[in-house]
Amino acid sequence: MPVIAFPAETKPGEKRCSLMPINVKAYTLLGADVCIQSGIGAAINIQDGDYQAAGANVITSRDDLLKKADIVLSLHKLTAEEIGLLKPETLIVSYLDPFNEHAFVEQLCAAQITSISMEMIPRISRCQKMDALSSQASLAGYVMIMQAVNTLDSVLPMMMTPAGTLKPAKVFVIGAGVAGLQAIATAKRLGASVTAFDTRSVVAEQVQSLGAKFLDIDLGQTGETGQGYAQALTPEQMQIQQREQAKCIADSDIVITTAQLFGRKPPQLIDDATIAMMKPGSVIVDMAAETGGNVAGSVAGETIVKHGVSLVGTGNWANGVAKHATQMYASNLYNLISEFWSKESNRFELDIEDEVQSGCIITHQGQVVNKMIQSFYEQTNSQQEKA
Ligand code: NAI
Repeated sequence: MPVIAFPAETKPGEKRCSLMPINVKAYTLLGADVCIQSGIGAAINIQDGDYQAAGANVITSRDDLLKKADIVLSLHKLTAEEIGLLKPETLIVSYLDPFNEHAFVEQLCAAQITSISMEMIPRISRCQKMDALSSQASLAGYVMIMQAVNTLDSVLPMMMTPAGTLKPAKVFVIGAGVAGLQAIATAKRLGASVTAFDTRSVVAEQVQSLGAKFLDIDLGQTGETGQGYAQALTPEQMQIQQREQAKCIADSDIVITTAQLFGRKPPQLIDDATIAMMKPGSVIVDMAAETGGNVAGSVAGETIVKHGVSLVGTGNWANGVAKHATQMYASNLYNLISEFWSKESNRFELDIEDEVQSGCIITHQGQVVNKMIQSFYEQTNSQQEKA
């Protein structure tokens, strides 16, 4: 019986994990032996006994767990040393950050590990149930509004009281992808007046359907990639965007920035001069603070005050609602594994020609097999050689 191992997460502060007790039975029904590291769910108040009652084996030693695994399912990637403990041909599935972790990917090749990167699951209808970027981004949108609300010194809804009328807060959301749309919906539910902007004009209708206004900025040709991601703007387009959105930012009580470019550093959208135009006491939440930032001066993991404006750069947003985030991530993992589990051979059937697997498998049989990652490494290698 193949052993699926679920190690506890070791990243400081991380509360999420890769398994809920409800998933244990489902994996067992597939025909797998579910083994967890003791304490895996402790940070979300799920005890070893809850997993055990569902049919999991609890293993105290992390090393022993990894040594016996055929498949390892986690949230964050294992360390390089831990990769050395795995049997050759073990399948590991987690966030791998393959664009930035070239050396680690090379180690996976050397150890003959087959790896799937959860960030690389294709954004197509068939994969929605496995799409961890979406499930976690959606919760991030909610958490960012909650953090902004807790930081702001006024309320979001309009209130008509005998003591006077309070105007609704103005919220501006930049980037209306998965996180941005959830931020818009959450702010609307709390009664704010919401405006949003995205370089992909196709999302205007989605923004409006949530009851928010779409800020119209004419950037000329923008477009999106085959997978629906935004294309990078030219420097001229960036200037137009920054100029045209400045008034809306200055008028807002809360600004949420969620703009990302897949596989690249996020664009910087708000400069220091624009922050200075905002009312003191206003709040900007920078979703991208950990990866370079959409906002000048935001600090990963911290809230700082600049020109009287709070810049919230907490990061790891879904961790703020860790139990639901685990429920969604664990379900994304199960949906991926069960999609390709063969009842006949009682194992995960690898097929690197499959549309989904070819998108998310990074290494197999000692090679980087993912086309996008291969060409990214080739490009960065040749740039480094030229420099
Ligand atoms: P993301 O996290 O890569 O980016 C967030 C948003 O920032 C995007 O909407 C992007 O257009 C926007 N953005 C980039 N540069 C910007 C700028 N300078 N100013 C303002 N906004 C900027 O995107 P996410 O949320 O991961 O979604 C990516 C795409 O994938 C979207 O089209 C989404 O609808 C699509 N998708 C499709 C799924 C499917 O299964 N069919 C599932 C999930 C997402």
